Amino acid sequence: MEYFDRYQGGERAILVSVTVQMLEDLDTEEFRLLAKSAGAEVLEHVTAQRIKPDPKLFIGSGKAEEIAELVQAHEAELVIFDHALSPAQERNLEKIVQCRVIDRTGLILDIFAQRARTHEGKLQVELAQLEHLSTRLVRGWTHLERQKGGIGLRGPGESQLETDRRLLRIRMGQLKDKLAKVKQTRTQGRAARQKADIPTVSLVGYTNAGKSTLFNLLADSDVYAADQLFATLDPTLRRLNWEGIGALVLADTVGFVRNLPHSLVDSFKATLEETLEATLLLHVIDSSSPDCMEQIDAVESVLKEIGADVATLRVYNKIDQSGEEAKIIYAAPHQPDRVYVSAHAGLGIDLLRQAVQECLLGQIQNFELKLKPIYGKLRTQLYSLNVIQSEQYDDEGNLLLTIRIAPHKLEQLLRQQHLPLRDILGQAAKMFERPLEAFEIKDEIS
Ligand code: GTP
Repeated sequence: MEYFDRYQGGERAILVSVTVQMLEDLDTEEFRLLAKSAGAEVLEHVTAQRIKPDPKLFIGSGKAEEIAELVQAHEAELVIFDHALSPAQERNLEKIVQCRVIDRTGLILDIFAQRARTHEGKLQVELAQLEHLSTRLVRGWTHLERQKGGIGLRGPGESQLETDRRLLRIRMGQLKDKLAKVKQTRTQGRAARQKADIPTVSLVGYTNAGKSTLFNLLADSDVYAADQLFATLDPTLRRLNWEGIGALVLADTVGFVRNLPHSLVDSFKATLEETLEATLLLHVIDSSSPDCMEQIDAVESVLKEIGADVATLRVYNKIDQSGEEAKIIYAAPHQPDRVYVSAHAGLGIDLLRQAVQECLLGQIQNFELKLKPIYGKLRTQLYSLNVIQSEQYDDEGNLLLTIRIAPHKLEQLLRQQHLPLRDILGQAAKMFERPLEAFEIKDEIS
């Protein structure tokens, strides 16, 4: 096993962005925000171009010397690359620039570590940190416990770090077990909520779009909101009571970011689990950002990737800066497509509430189903979705179920099983609370 000494680092940082052909486009502004978010004092931002990364240093040796001079001139404590570096590249670079070098993954992990608040979030970050560090072991990690670490060295993982790979593996195994347990508990909580028939509204959006600000305003709570990326790592939940809707759960989630390092995708996704289960997503958008369209695409493609098949309302925030007026744009009557608001200035918030109400009421409806005994599989599925309100048998042994579900979800289930709706609904006509839409679905399927 190879050990090597690493510099301690700190917060006085030089940033390095390299445009490499064949790799994705860089967003240098986002990188600066990320670094600042981690608490870095940015002394200099060096850019370079390469056809392909150098295997030893990622950059050319001339560029590395140039950075070494800047480190000396500014008395920098840290160099942060906007790329994934191999452990060997980090080590070779440190020899030349004479200070700590971290990569994009290390930087984002540091931000996660500072922001994790819930038990689960902390476990996830610790696990990801240990996985990242297990390839970058250094001599004498234990002295970190006595010294305050700089960027890349903080977080729940810090006091647990070991020089011994075997201990590291044991610790990683324990963390995975704990995480599995925490997740199970959370799923149970969610199931209980669904059973109690409380809709969940999740705020998602590109980092810095204003989710926490909006969350605070809606929840009238004081979740940490700051002009920093990732001010929220863990889903934060509030139970609200809104006129016309009743009880609902509002969930804030971690901000999305482009080119999330691959090794972090899992821990990021886990923070979004609430999102997958939500009744409605509020996609918060910074309408004043010049990159607004790219950010919308980035968020939507991640949602698609994690399989979030949930009704979404776009919320164009920061209209105080973009100059739009507060309004709701409808896709069809009572089907809001997007709302324009300013969380900061408190503009359009009533419209947002109205739009959320329209979306929720349009979605969840009561249905009464009559299932012949052969349709037991559907019953099992409905049970696992926790949508069954009541059940009883009629004289012929059919199962009469009352369920509360969004029509599109019911339609999806029936289609998946190729079930003829006429069979299921029996004398459906008088059973529907909202007969019109329901009949349209019925005729299409049967
Ligand atoms: P992450 O946690 O990084 O994902 O960010 P977030 O989406 O939760 O954003 P947050 O609420 O922390 O807001 C980011 C910044 O935008 C803060 O400085 C807010 O004050 C500011 N902001 C939020 N809403 C508005 C708004 O309507 N107008 C203006 N001008 N600024 C806003």
